Amino acid sequence: MILVTGATGDIGRRIVRLLCQQQKPVRSFVRLSSHSNELEHRGSDIFIGDLRREKDIQKACQGVKYIISTHGSGNDSLSLDYRANIELIDQAKIQGVEHFVFISVLGADRGYEDAPVFKAKRAVEKYLQNSGLNYTILRPSGLASNLLPLAERFRETGLYLLIGEATNRTSIVSSDDLAKIAVDSLIIDDARNQILPVGGPEILSRDQIPKIFGRIFNKEPIVINVPLFAVDSVRNLLGFFDSSTQKNLGTFRTLLADEFFCTSEETSNLERIYNFQLENLESFLRRYLAT
Ligand SMILES: NC(=O)c1ccc[n+]([C@@H]2O[C@H](COP(=O)([O-])OP(=O)(O)OC[C@H]3O[C@@H](n4cnc5c(N)ncnc54)[C@H](OP(=O)(O)O)[C@@H]3O)[C@@H](O)[C@H]2O)c1
Repeated sequence: MILVTGATGDIGRRIVRLLCQQQKPVRSFVRLSSHSNELEHRGSDIFIGDLRREKDIQKACQGVKYIISTHGSGNDSLSLDYRANIELIDQAKIQGVEHFVFISVLGADRGYEDAPVFKAKRAVEKYLQNSGLNYTILRPSGLASNLLPLAERFRETGLYLLIGEATNRTSIVSSDDLAKIAVDSLIIDDARNQILPVGGPEILSRDQIPKIFGRIFNKEPIVINVPLFAVDSVRNLLGFFDSSTQKNLGTFRTLLADEFFCTSEETSNLERIYNFQLENLESFLRRYLAT
C-alpha cells in the first residue's frame, strides 16, 4: 500500500492518478472537506483525517509500504510542513516502510532565516536522511500548474502582475513531470537516498512568463510590475495586527526576492535518472489551456 498525503493538491492528485493507472494500491490521505471523489472513482482508498492530528497519521500509516509526502501547509508550517512530516517518518520506521518520498522545495538548504516553509522542509530533510529509511527528497522550483489561474486571468484581461525583480530567473517544472518523478522514485535505484533539485528544461527570467501567455493567447501582455518594497510595506502593516501572518508572508517574500532555478547539469541528471525528457512551460500551458 502506498500512502499519499496532500492527495487532493496539485501534485498529490497527479501522483494518485498515475499510481491508479499503474494499478498500484493507493491510500489517499484527505480532509473531510477535501474534494476527493475523483480519487475514489479512480480506485484509491480514501483515508479521512487531519495531518495536524498524530492519531490520524498513525492510523493512516497502518500496513503501508511506501509513503509519498506531498501535502502543503497554508499558514501553518510548524504543524504541517514540520510536525506532520516528522510523525510520518516516525510511523514509517515503525511500519518498516521500504521507501519514503518527500517533496521539499528548491533552496531549502540556503538557510533563509525568515521563511518558515524553507526552514521546516530543511529540518525534515535532515530528519529523513538520518532515519535509516530509504528516501528520495525532491526539491522542486515553482510548479507550472500554479500559473494556470494567472493564465486564465490573462486570457480575459491581458494583464500580468509581476511582483519583484523582473529579471530574476526561474526554471518552472511541469507538475505532471514532478508527479511522474515522485512515483518513479519508488522503484528507480539511482533515485534512492538522493536529494534532487527538480526544475523544468529551461531557465526563464520572470518577465518571459507574460510573453509566453501572450504567444498562447495571441495577445500583447500588459505587465504591471509591483516592486518588492510594496510587499514589505503590506507585510509590516499586517505585523501590527497579526504577527503570525507577517511571519508566514516571509516565505512568500523569499520566493519573490530570490532566484529559483536548476542548472542544466541538474536537469540533465534528472532526465538521465528518470529516463524521460522534461516538458517546457509553454508546452505544459498549451496542453491545459484550450485556446
Ligand atoms: N506550489 C509550488 O510552486 C511548490 C514549489 C515547491 C515545492 N512545493 C511543495 O510541493 C508540495 C505540493 O504542493 P502543491 O502546490 O501541490 O500543494 P497544494 O495544491 O497547495 O495542496 C496542498 C494539499 O495539502 C492538503 N492539506 C493541507 N492541510 C492539510 C491538513 N491539515 N490535513 C490533511 N491535508 C492537508 C490539502 O488538502 P485540501 O484539498 O483539503 O486543501 C491539499 O491536498 C508541497 O509540499 C509544497 O510545499 C510546491
